[in-house]
Amino acid sequence: MAGNWKMNMTHLQAIAFVQKLAWTLKDADHDYEQVEVAVFPPFTALRSVQTLVDTDKLKLVYGGQDLSQHDSGAYTGDISGEFLAALGAKYALVGHSERRTIHGEDDAVCQAKVQAALKHGLVPVLCVGETLEQREATDTPWDVPVAQLRAGLAELPNGAEIVLAYEPVWAIGTGKVATAEQAQEVCAALRAALVEELGEERAAATRILYGGSVKPDNVASIMREPDIDGALVGGASLKIDDFASIVRYRNHVGI
Ligand code: PGA
Repeated sequence: MAGNWKMNMTHLQAIAFVQKLAWTLKDADHDYEQVEVAVFPPFTALRSVQTLVDTDKLKLVYGGQDLSQHDSGAYTGDISGEFLAALGAKYALVGHSERRTIHGEDDAVCQAKVQAALKHGLVPVLCVGETLEQREATDTPWDVPVAQLRAGLAELPNGAEIVLAYEPVWAIGTGKVATAEQAQEVCAALRAALVEELGEERAAATRILYGGSVKPDNVASIMREPDIDGALVGGASLKIDDFASIVRYRNHVGI
């Protein structure tokens, strides 16, 4: 279960938040082996989160919301995978729809970022998803996400670990969650594409997250789907009780 904080929380707020989240999960006896918990704070909070995680020996992991495709040099404002790895980050989001839209990141840039993450020992979380316009223009709404997956994973080194996140753009931050069936339909197509790209075994071992208006009251039905292995949570990841409840979806009634 991954919390994408986006551009929220100073490093001081991040410390207080992660501390409280860890306490809440500890009180609930959360089993991190069963459900991994990852947070994606802004870059400016990563060092603080690292210090807290190390000092208090917390089991939650963290990552960057983006990384540069370059290692170092004249790229003002960018952050290298090397810097994230040095801060103990495990993951880096790649190609979040807000990066693709606001920062004009195309499939080639995302592919280079996947490679850069792997080069520095990070697990890339490649985000894919169609816009409402793209969905409404076709009977096969998985076309765009599958094409983004194939482009992003081009020339993936043998044995490289990646995570996929299916985030329909029309469901991000809109409160319009995809139905469990809609999410499963696309995630099944993504899994099939993974089989072609990586082979049966690696495809089965690759985690596919769903993202887009995930909340405590819809996470359980989404997680019941066979090709959905986790969630990438935006808005609800900023509220401790909501995020802790999402992390503990296995305890929800009916699961
Ligand atoms: P949301 O964001 O949960 O606020 O819809 C999800 C995301 O953008 O990762």
